[in-house]
Amino acid sequence: MLQAHRPSIGSEELEEVRKVFETGWLGMGSQVIEFENMMKDYLGARNVVTVNTGTTALHIALDAYGIGPGDEVITPSLTFCAGIQSVISLGATPVFCEVDPDTLNIDIADMEKRITPRTKAIMPVHYCGYACDMDRLLGITRNKKIVVIEDAAHAFGSVYKGKKIGSIGDATCFSFDPIKNFTCGEGGAVALSDDNIAEEIRRKRVLGISKDSWQRQKKAQSWYYEVVTQGYRYHMSNINAAIGIAQLRKLDRFIARRKDIAERYNDAFRGIEGIRMLKWELREMAPFMYIIRVAGDRRDEMMDFLASKGVASGVHYIPNHLQPFFSRYSTELPATEKVWKEIITIPLFYDMTDDDAALVIRSVKEFFGC
Ligand SMILES: Cc1ncc(COP(=O)(O)O)c(C=O)c1O
Repeated sequence: MLQAHRPSIGSEELEEVRKVFETGWLGMGSQVIEFENMMKDYLGARNVVTVNTGTTALHIALDAYGIGPGDEVITPSLTFCAGIQSVISLGATPVFCEVDPDTLNIDIADMEKRITPRTKAIMPVHYCGYACDMDRLLGITRNKKIVVIEDAAHAFGSVYKGKKIGSIGDATCFSFDPIKNFTCGEGGAVALSDDNIAEEIRRKRVLGISKDSWQRQKKAQSWYYEVVTQGYRYHMSNINAAIGIAQLRKLDRFIARRKDIAERYNDAFRGIEGIRMLKWELREMAPFMYIIRVAGDRRDEMMDFLASKGVASGVHYIPNHLQPFFSRYSTELPATEKVWKEIITIPLFYDMTDDDAALVIRSVKEFFGC
């Protein structure tokens, strides 16, 4: 079965991990700092703080910006549940909004309608790496003093109007889980320009322990530390950072190949009756997943057909307002409810061969009788 996603890992990653083993310092240390500096350079971001997952990146960023009880956070319903759980865990209220069916990115007009005096943050998702219209979004939020926490779990390496995602808004959260554009095994990061919030995130990721006061006292009393704020055990380990260092060096190659496969799909599927293509412009995109919309209530039938041809597929995602645990935040989202029944994710990963891509194309075309 051709999988829908797969990491591309090998001897370079093992070599970086071997260096960590040699030092014997497995926890947070020099590899984490090196990885953060590499990302700062790559993204053109003022601060990059690593954590142990993309979910904890969202949680700690929301927390550091002071999101809490009584606050509302607007986010598309059509996304992974990580951001929603983060909002709820802080005692805040998720407010679901629509996506644009042509891009699956946040529907900014619908988002704007849902802003209330309690709206403290917006959490847009750069779906599959396709950048949201950040000029329009930030134009709305900046004068209302609403913070934008970008969920860029899909979008490391993507660009918006010449700038990397991670160098534009208030705070941008990335995921490096095993299937993302590049991986650390598991990992995440927050890129942000505000030095004070970055410092707060650095403290919060290590249980609120202040490194500054710790460093000050260290010379005199090496055991001394101070807990200065509420925090979590969310930091990244050197082992995970080492994998990330090796992967980040290869990222531009990864992105180029993903784009190449996505272009083949675009060329092959354009014009097929029964398929609605998403209006993604690949030029500035680091495509994480490739999604098509299947018209006529045939999505599930198509998934079964692809499986019979040895091609795995997926659905990203089931809208969160339809999930049992989130039902009390449910609201009317007709566009989302229509589009999610049409979406299917087909294989896209760096190590796919040309033959793999041809198998996917052949199978999709066969399903539509082309
Ligand atoms: C849109 C989105 N946000 C957040 C996350 C959470 O990232 P992680 O799996 O690293 O916790 C994911 C993971 O798949 C995701 O797809």
